[in-house]
Amino acid sequence: FEVKVVNRKYAQAVLTTLRDKNTSQIEFRKGLVRLGRILGLELIEDFECEKTVVETPLGARVDGCRIKDLDNIVVITVLRAAWPLTEGLIKVLFTAKQGVVAARRVEEKGMKAGSFEIEISYVKTPRITSRDVVVISDVMVATGSTLVSVLEKLREKGIAKRYYVASVITTPHAIGRLKKYAEEAGIDLKLYTIAIDPEIDEKGYIVPGLGDAGDRAFG
Ligand code: PRP
Repeated sequence: FEVKVVNRKYAQAVLTTLRDKNTSQIEFRKGLVRLGRILGLELIEDFECEKTVVETPLGARVDGCRIKDLDNIVVITVLRAAWPLTEGLIKVLFTAKQGVVAARRVEEKGMKAGSFEIEISYVKTPRITSRDVVVISDVMVATGSTLVSVLEKLREKGIAKRYYVASVITTPHAIGRLKKYAEEAGIDLKLYTIAIDPEIDEKGYIVPGLGDAGDRAFG
């Protein structure tokens, strides 16, 4: 298990806009698209380059790179906040297949010992095989409960070669849970995030965070 914080000025500046309570719905959504694109570029850095040779219009042959596994990516969007994040990811991971999972924290029952009960109401994904690389798009990873449930569901569809999470904000608590889960499940999991925020409040919100990403993006 690995965590990668995307500490680029551009990403940090977009995140600052998202955190700002005065940012409008449209700008919020556009910010998520921008971060999705950056996360896609960062993820690709973890892929191998296969050597390929092309001929230029000048008749010269030149060594180039073909990104290995680019054709075997399955992007899973955790509805609904991650929708714009996926839009950005797909601009880079343009050959990806896609699936969706609708998951909801059962907030009425409250957070117990840093964890929520998760209700998964819809799962639709392509077939997942050991050749595939799964990228889960989820804006906020607070307690990690949603991701653990999503990973459980996805593993029923087949075990991928490796798994990535593309997120905007996560917490030390979620990182601890995901590390434990990945080790117990024996899966190769890497979490990419723009920031790690220190706290989760009693309602399960990340602090300082950016509020409810789904509501801010879609009303
Ligand atoms: C939010 C968020 C994540 C999840 C993270 O979804 O979009 O999916 O909570 O929290 P966790 O790590 O503590 O599980 P929410 O349940 O609010 O649904 P929504 O995106 O549809 O509003």
